[in-house]
Amino acid sequence: MRVMFQLNGNPVEVDVEPRMHLADCLRDALRQTGTHLGCEHGVCGACTVIVDGAAVRSCLMLAVQAEGSTVVTVEGLSTEEALTPLQAAFRKHHALQCGFCTPGMLTTAHALLTDEPDADADRIRSVLSGNLCRCTGYIPIVEAVLEARATYRKTDKP
Ligand code: FES
Ligand code: FES
Repeated sequence: MRVMFQLNGNPVEVDVEPRMHLADCLRDALRQTGTHLGCEHGVCGACTVIVDGAAVRSCLMLAVQAEGSTVVTVEGLSTEEALTPLQAAFRKHHALQCGFCTPGMLTTAHALLTDEPDADADRIRSVLSGNLCRCTGYIPIVEAVLEARATYRKTDKP
């Protein structure tokens, strides 16, 4: 089946099997390999992308369901080579080690702060509770998201 959607600001058109989930479509058909696959059961959050402004698990969504949608992957969080303030905060706070969970953490946090730039630590912990990290621990991740909030309060959101 042919599916068309906006990916990181550009229109894409791709032929997929009806059973192909969005994560495989992004990674295999569209070569956006920043989206990671861990559990493929909706548990780990590594595959999180932003669809029409909402953080979703791309392993639980069929590619054909993206028809007409706007999809943002970790590659699309910035159009510049420089790190986004959220990414820079992750680096500053050592909020990643192996990095496997990081794309999902970043997309989840970006969607949260875009909607709720004043989210407090409890809210951030609650939203990120669906993203598993096996190496870093969650304290530096929450600290990084807390620090990045200020940049989302400006008119020009990252
Ligand atoms: S790979 Fe999608 S939630 Fe784990
Ligand atoms: S940094 Fe390794 S799983 Fe999170």
